Amino acid sequence: MAATELPTCRWGILTTGLISSWFVADLVMPREDAKAKHIIQAIGSSSLEKSRDFAAKYVKDVPYQTTVYGSYEEVYNDPNIDCVYVGSPHGFHKRDCLAAIAAGKNVLCEKAFTINAREAREVFDAAKAKGVYVAEAMWLRHRPMLADLRKLLYEDKVIGEVFRTTSDFQMQLDIASLPATSRYKDLSLGAGSMLDIGIYPLTWAILTLDPGTPTQSEDPKILAAQSFVDGIEVTTSLILHYPSSGRQGVVTTTTERRKGASEIIATIDGTNGFVEVEGAVPSHPRSFTVYPKWTEDKKPEGKKYDYQRLQQGFIYEADNTALDIAAGRKESPIVPWAESIRVMEIMDEVRRQGGTKYPQDSA
Ligand SMILES: NC(=O)c1ccc[n+]([C@@H]2O[C@H](COP(=O)([O-])OP(=O)(O)OC[C@H]3O[C@@H](n4cnc5c(N)ncnc54)[C@H](OP(=O)(O)O)[C@@H]3O)[C@@H](O)[C@H]2O)c1
Repeated sequence: MAATELPTCRWGILTTGLISSWFVADLVMPREDAKAKHIIQAIGSSSLEKSRDFAAKYVKDVPYQTTVYGSYEEVYNDPNIDCVYVGSPHGFHKRDCLAAIAAGKNVLCEKAFTINAREAREVFDAAKAKGVYVAEAMWLRHRPMLADLRKLLYEDKVIGEVFRTTSDFQMQLDIASLPATSRYKDLSLGAGSMLDIGIYPLTWAILTLDPGTPTQSEDPKILAAQSFVDGIEVTTSLILHYPSSGRQGVVTTTTERRKGASEIIATIDGTNGFVEVEGAVPSHPRSFTVYPKWTEDKKPEGKKYDYQRLQQGFIYEADNTALDIAAGRKESPIVPWAESIRVMEIMDEVRRQGGTKYPQDSA
C-alpha cells in the first residue's frame, strides 16, 4: 500500500434499523482528514424492499454501487465484504455475530455486545478459532474526547485525585403502549434500560474512575437496584466502588423521564476540582469543562474543551475498525475482548441484584 493510500473497509450492513441508518449516514459523509475509506458494499435486511429503501435514503452521492439483499445470509457470503456491521437488537447479536464469523467475516457489533457475558465469551471464542476480527461498537470509547479527558485526569491530574463520577441516561418510552414485538418490550430481544442506555453512564464511570481501563481494569464492587413496568426494567441505579482507590461511580438510567435538550451528562469530582461533561445524552458528549475546586457561593470559572462534531460521531469507531483490520489485528485496542466481557459481567451482576432475567440466561 502506498504511503498516501488510505485503508479501505467494505462494509456489509446488517439491518435497516435506526442505528444502521446513523452509522451509514456518518460513513458516507465526505471528509478532508479521513483516516480510512469506507464503502457501504451491501445492505442485508429481512426484506429486499427495506434494503432498497435504506440504500436509496442513506447511501447517496457515492461513487460506487451498493448491493441490496433480502437476507442476512447473503451478506455473510458476499466475498466483497471486509467487515459486517451488526445492528440487530441485542438479543440477536450472538446469533448474527456467530453466523458472520462462521462465514469468515470480520465483525463490528453494536452494544450491548450480547445479552450476557457467557454469550460474549462464546462469540470471542468463535472469532479466535476462525481468526477474524470482532469488536463491540462502543463508539463512546473511540471519541478523541475520552482519551484527552483521561490524560487530563490521570496524567495531568487537573482535578487532583478523582474520587467520584456520576452519570445518568434518561429517555421517555411508554412501555405499556408498545407492541409485544418491540425490542423495548420483548425480553428475548434484550428489553430494559440497563443494556440499552445504562451501558453509557456505566462506560463514563468505568473510563473516568479506572486509569487502567481497558487493558488492566479493576473490577469494582457493585450495588444495584432495578424497577419494572409490565415485567420490563425501566429504571436502574447502581454504585460502583473501586476497592483499591475508594472511588465511587453513581450510575443511573431510566426510560420513564423525558430528557432535556442539552444537559450535564457526567460529572467527575476530584479533590482539587471537578469536570462536567456536556451533551444531549451520555452517548453524545459535545464538550467538557474543567473547574477548579468550588469554594465560593458562585460557581468557579472553568476551562472548556469543545469538540468538532463530525455528524453523529460514529466515524471514529469506523476508522479505528478499518485501521485495525488493515493492520491484521483481531481485537480493538480501545475495546478489547476482555473489556467487553467485563462490561457484560458488570451488567450481569446488576441484573442479578436488580432482578432482570432474560430467556438467554437459562439457555
Ligand atoms: N450506538 C448507539 O448509539 C445505539 C443507538 C441505538 C441502538 N443501538 C443498538 O443497536 C441495536 C439496534 O437498535 P435500533 O434502535 O437500531 O433498533 P431498531 O430500529 O428496532 O432496528 C433493529 C433492526 O433489526 C432487525 N430485526 C430483526 N429482527 C427483529 C425483531 N424481532 N424486532 C426488531 N427488529 C428486528 C430489523 O431490521 P431488518 O428488518 O432490516 O432486518 C430492525 O430494523 C441494539 O442492540 C441497540 O442497543 C445503538
